[in-house]
Amino acid sequence: MKGKILVTGGAGYIGSHTTVELQNAGYEVVIVDNLSNSSESVIDGIEKISGVRPVFMKLDCNDKAGMEKLFEEQKNIKGIIHFAASKAVGESVQKPLLYYRNNIDSLLTLMELMPRYGVDALVFSSSCTVYGQPDVLPVDENAPIKPAMSPYGNTKQINEEIIRDTIYSGVPYKAIILRYFNPIGAHPTAEIGELPNGVPQNLIPFVTQTAMGIREQLSVFGDDYNTPDGSCIRDYINVVDLAKAHVVAVDRMLTGKSLENVETFNLGTGRGLSVLELIKTFEKVTGQKLNYKIVGRREGDIEQVWANPEKANNVLGWKAEESIEDTLASAWKWQLRLREKGIM
Ligand code: NAD
Ligand code: WQD
Repeated sequence: MKGKILVTGGAGYIGSHTTVELQNAGYEVVIVDNLSNSSESVIDGIEKISGVRPVFMKLDCNDKAGMEKLFEEQKNIKGIIHFAASKAVGESVQKPLLYYRNNIDSLLTLMELMPRYGVDALVFSSSCTVYGQPDVLPVDENAPIKPAMSPYGNTKQINEEIIRDTIYSGVPYKAIILRYFNPIGAHPTAEIGELPNGVPQNLIPFVTQTAMGIREQLSVFGDDYNTPDGSCIRDYINVVDLAKAHVVAVDRMLTGKSLENVETFNLGTGRGLSVLELIKTFEKVTGQKLNYKIVGRREGDIEQVWANPEKANNVLGWKAEESIEDTLASAWKWQLRLREKGIM
């Protein structure tokens, strides 16, 4: 065993895939999740894939006393990967205090406790949303941070600043900030995947639910952007690839390879794909005809963004491997599995 890692939000979409990869790499995982956007059955899915059931504690990471108890019971936690957060952009505009409280307090609580319990490493889930509409594409880590478009986006910016300020103050642990582009797809076994609550706001779950007949029609938000086919461009990154980057980040800090006490990496493929290209690829890979129509732009959408992932490739030694075809096929397989299980 390489050591014990606390995964907050480990029952969620990216956290569950990361738990599997940590276990595959020989780490012992303790999950803390309040199940506000997930269910305990995800732990069964993790166990089915890896053969090992992670320790699971239903706990809010804003509950400082509860977290102290956890650190005392679970001795020798070496690192924390902090996924736990509220993540719906639209909801954050309606309920800003919920987002500021949940997303900022949880980080403060963890960072206050880390030195007391000898935790050496923190990985934080940030987002390409911090770049807004970049002036230069592909966007690298030195690009300016743009004013946030939503309270959710603002919590990512503020949390990045909290981490940098705290690390620069000389605390005895290291941090890695990972800026995800658009994570999609599911584990190839279809034992775990994305489980959106209610009507999906994100493209891929809306696509797979439309193909399944759960939604009648996909609305494509705009075909009059300044892009080759007029629809928005994103960098869609396979969730298992993304999960693997977290293992590399933890290894890097725990084996003393960090070049600086706080490092930031883009996690993307380096390829931009338009909404219409994505739909075409989905249809080709799955053989499903997608019912979609072009509608007006969605307020607040970025026109185009994709990553320059060279720093992660060269410094972290991580690269996105999966093709968009296999990734979309995995999303479809997951949707079929949800139907089989009667979940959706
Ligand atoms: P998710 O909602 O599937 O997972 C988050 C998990 O955290 C959920 O299981 C939820 O129940 C839990 N949680 C929330 N607040 C908590 C709290 N206070 N205490 C304990 N558990 C709590 O989301 P995800 O897509 O897996 O995202 C993980 C992280 O990555 C988030 O920080 C998110 O902001 C960030 N991120 C996600 C995307 C994306 O498109 N999915 C992109 C960029 C960044
Ligand atoms: C992708 C593309 C839409 C739905 C959001 C957050 C961001 C990040 C990831 C965390 C866009 C288009 C979508 C639909 C569509 N999360 N679309 N019809 O907007 O890149 O980013 O999730 O940090 O912060 O803002 O992702 O999946 O919502 O949209 O045409 O029904 O699909 O316009 O171009 P987005 P998305």
